[in-house]
Amino acid sequence: MDFLKQIALPQSEAQIGVLYFVLNVIYILLLPFISYLFGALILSLYHNRKGRKQNNALSIRFSKDVIDHILPNKSILLLFGVVPYMALTFAYAQLLQDTAAISVSILSWGLLLFAAAAAFASSYQSALKVGGVLESVSANTEEMESYRTQMSETRRTSGKYALIFLVAAGYCLIAGTSLAVHPNQWQTISSAVELLFSLDVLAKLIQFVLLSFTITCLGTLFFTFSWQGGSKHLTAEYTEYVKKATLPTGLITLLLQPLFVVLSVVLLPVQSLTGLVFLSAFLVIFFVFLASHSVYGMLKGFVAGYAAKAFYLFVLALGCMVVQGTASLSGATKNSSALLAYRYTIHHEELLAKLGINLAIFSGEDIFNAKCSACHEFGAKKVGPAYKDVLPKYENDRTKLLSFVMNPQKINPAFPPMPNQGLKPAEADSIAAYIMLMYKQAK
Ligand code: HEC
Repeated sequence: MDFLKQIALPQSEAQIGVLYFVLNVIYILLLPFISYLFGALILSLYHNRKGRKQNNALSIRFSKDVIDHILPNKSILLLFGVVPYMALTFAYAQLLQDTAAISVSILSWGLLLFAAAAAFASSYQSALKVGGVLESVSANTEEMESYRTQMSETRRTSGKYALIFLVAAGYCLIAGTSLAVHPNQWQTISSAVELLFSLDVLAKLIQFVLLSFTITCLGTLFFTFSWQGGSKHLTAEYTEYVKKATLPTGLITLLLQPLFVVLSVVLLPVQSLTGLVFLSAFLVIFFVFLASHSVYGMLKGFVAGYAAKAFYLFVLALGCMVVQGTASLSGATKNSSALLAYRYTIHHEELLAKLGINLAIFSGEDIFNAKCSACHEFGAKKVGPAYKDVLPKYENDRTKLLSFVMNPQKINPAFPPMPNQGLKPAEADSIAAYIMLMYKQAK
């Protein structure tokens, strides 16, 4: 899927700056969403299974609620998932054009896998909903029974596939983006599978799993107890169930985060390390610390307000994690960005020329009047020598004259050195032709 890189256009430095900004925005939407969805699917599948085995209505309700929190409606999947993933792939195609990195094709596959995961997740959610309704109907006709089995079949398969595709899409996201910050691997890595053995990717995968559990647990607490006054019809048993299902896991996974933040910095290559990388890594740890304080507070004595605090603090930590990621990316792509900006200038001029717009190619006479006449005349010396005295030696050597005009050298001790006039090749060409012509006509 390298065609994406081919359609990417060269871009100026300012545009690359904008691209990094956009990338931050994309990540801030995508990272919390995709990790929450992943964590929610796992918790939901786990508790649903448990609920059916033990015939426990609380588990079943929990398995439905976790998913409903992250997917209040289907368009969320597009808005926070598919669209940002697509935008991310395009942004990387722009940044990594002209490099050998295969990140973009990995990300393109990830996008397809994610779209599949989103479709299955949404059918899983519907199956949970319909299944719940069917079970509350007391009629036990044969038809009803077959409906129920059908629904639970749909629920099982779509849940399973949603998880499998999401794991694959998450892997592509991590592998593709992590390759992008390792320019030393751009030449050697030729398939996504090779990246599985990279320490950096492994560390990020574990970090992603931890992060998913943390955000799902904190999010569930937040949406159950705090968001818009908390869920309605909370029985004491269900409250207890939610706390037990989320608080310990949330705290443990939260406390493990700093370890991986440090590791992610240590594993970066030198060219990706910038001041911003360190600063944002520090802030992640800081916010994680504050969030764990709130979660611990909830374990000690439950206060609903802490749920919101912990969730918001963790989202802030995630935001800093995103900045850390893009900061290291900008370090890694610094060289290729500079090259891109240079290509852009050329591309821009070619484009204008193609459109028939003549870019600042003034006539020789214009240039003479603007840039040379202050110091030169044809017949007499001024600051510089008279052209009639110096041009004869260039009469049969156009290139020599051109190279002097573009890059003046010290020649005659009787004169000061001529300052470089900063002419473009095309301009130097027309001024050289002009003075030579005038000189010959005067002769
Ligand atoms: C600020 C003054 C200044 C300007 C402006 C200037 N020149 Fe000169 N030019 C000089 C001086 C001084 C010399 C003599 C340098 C030397 O001999 O080392 C010189 C020498 C030259 C020579 C003779 C080189 C030789 O082989 O002896 C040429 C040709 C020339 N300039 C062309 C130009 C052209 C074309 C422009 C405009 C694009 C230009 N100069 C603008 C000051 C100037």
